[in-house]
Amino acid sequence: MTGGAGFIGSHTVDRLMETGHRVVVLDNFSTGKRANLARWVDHPMLHIAVCDVGHGIFAALAPIVAKYGPVERIIHLAAQVSVVHSVANPLVDMQVNYGGTLHVLEYARASGVQKVVLASSAAVYGDVEELPVSEDAPKRPVSPYGIDKYASELALDYYSAVHGVATTTLRFFNVYGPRQDPSSPYSGVISIFTDRARAGRPLLIFGDGTQTRDFVYVGDVVRAIIAAAGDGNSRVAANVGTGAETSVLELARTIVDLCGGTSKIEHAESRAGEILKSLARVDRLREQLGVVAETKLVDGLRLTLG
Ligand SMILES: NC(=O)c1ccc[n+]([C@@H]2O[C@H](COP(=O)([O-])OP(=O)(O)OC[C@H]3O[C@@H](n4cnc5c(N)ncnc54)[C@H](O)[C@@H]3O)[C@@H](O)[C@H]2O)c1
Repeated sequence: MTGGAGFIGSHTVDRLMETGHRVVVLDNFSTGKRANLARWVDHPMLHIAVCDVGHGIFAALAPIVAKYGPVERIIHLAAQVSVVHSVANPLVDMQVNYGGTLHVLEYARASGVQKVVLASSAAVYGDVEELPVSEDAPKRPVSPYGIDKYASELALDYYSAVHGVATTTLRFFNVYGPRQDPSSPYSGVISIFTDRARAGRPLLIFGDGTQTRDFVYVGDVVRAIIAAAGDGNSRVAANVGTGAETSVLELARTIVDLCGGTSKIEHAESRAGEILKSLARVDRLREQLGVVAETKLVDGLRLTLG
């Protein structure tokens, strides 16, 4: 797994380790943390290699493969995860997010890997006209991050069609849960709100709070990743969301309530360019991967708050 020390990656490692798999984590620890994997650090079935996917994965995997045999499946989560950073540094984003995917696919082609799963994003759709957004909606990404995720998807499809590499793409919507880093300036709204509400500090909403998102709990995302890594469903691209919309104001109120109701909700000028509505169509996730993201927001928030 690439990016296994990160938020979604470390939850996926937990699930795979709990079910007896040997797991190799390739990560450069740019946003990922060793602490996220602390539970398994001395476990003989977990191997951690420091590696920048933008520079290739062959060298990092070679000693592990020599000892334990070939890599069977690759879950590719490593990425430069900030849209804002991608706008300021498009070349870095291309090297890590598109280049990293090509390195993974080249490895899969050369080594006969049975399945490659890509963490893509709702960002591939850009400004959406029709909600809920279906996988077949036009792809008009509005950031280098979205462009490189979409280019990665096209590369997966190409490697499947031309080189016979089995692949599945998952387009994550707004993922939340424990271990999402609230100190990062690029953190999701839920980790920022929960961090502030826990401390009794005000929650700041840009605009009136009627903007909506499809918030999906990380445990449900892990189930989608593991289903995607199985056999079948090659050349499928599926949204990973709940199919339910939540406004940012409703989210803020729920978090404040769960934290004892002391934080105030404040509003600031709305942000230029912010997407107003986001909602996934989830039929394909259910029909092709057999997964329904069923964790209710309030339950997921309780788990997040710990
Ligand atoms: N969290 C979300 O809501 C969301 C939504 C859409 C897509 N995604 C995608 O899901 C994946 C996981 O995201 P996350 O939320 O867990 O973020 P994260 O920052 O916690 O995880 C990313 C991981 O990739 C590693 N990484 C970054 N650059 C690397 C490089 N060059 N080489 C090797 N490792 C590198 C980081 O150290 C980190 O461990 C990413 O591909 C992201 O784009 C996440």
